[in-house]
Amino acid sequence: MENLRMRILFSRDEIERVVRDMAERISRDYEGKDLVVVCVLKGAFMFMADLVRHLKRPCVIDFVRLASYGSGTATSGKVLVTKDLETPITGKDVLIVEDIVDTGITLDFLVRKLKEQNPRSLKVCALVDKKHRRKIEFTADYVGFDLDRGFILGYGIDFDEKARYLPDIYVMEE
Ligand code: IMP
Ligand code: MG
Repeated sequence: MENLRMRILFSRDEIERVVRDMAERISRDYEGKDLVVVCVLKGAFMFMADLVRHLKRPCVIDFVRLASYGSGTATSGKVLVTKDLETPITGKDVLIVEDIVDTGITLDFLVRKLKEQNPRSLKVCALVDKKHRRKIEFTADYVGFDLDRGFILGYGIDFDEKARYLPDIYVMEE
């Protein structure tokens, strides 16, 4: 961490408020339904843990791990599943929980892949949306923060595996 220059962008209190709001919206939208929450590892682990704590719905939790980024800050455009779902989702109401939508390539890939199992519904919840960075069209159903510029880290989100454990979200100084 010593050699990373960064400053707080979203504090833990702000994150807490935003995550609670998202959980409330989701709870209302899924009234009477049982959810399967699909957490995209590793970046969304902390967000998902906080989100489900505030959900007023029963849910089953599963994880996928996708690789696309390598160790740099630019996406490679190629997505690999390195850990697949273990829960069958056919006929289920599924909510994908992701840290950041950037180019849209990762989530577009995952949505297509999960749709092959014919879930009853499939929505995407992202903590941070970098809309202007899309390389392909993709719209998340629930968004916590919009971000115009900058590379962020902390609260599960890493730079080269660093900073995931931090409770606030930082932006890298240019
Ligand atoms: P996409 O396929 O370009 O949408 O990639 C999304 C993934 O890129 C996210 O799940 C993150 O893992 C990673 N990513 C995008 N922007 C950032 C950032 O600012 N900090 C850390 N990881 C990022
Ligand atoms: Mg990620």
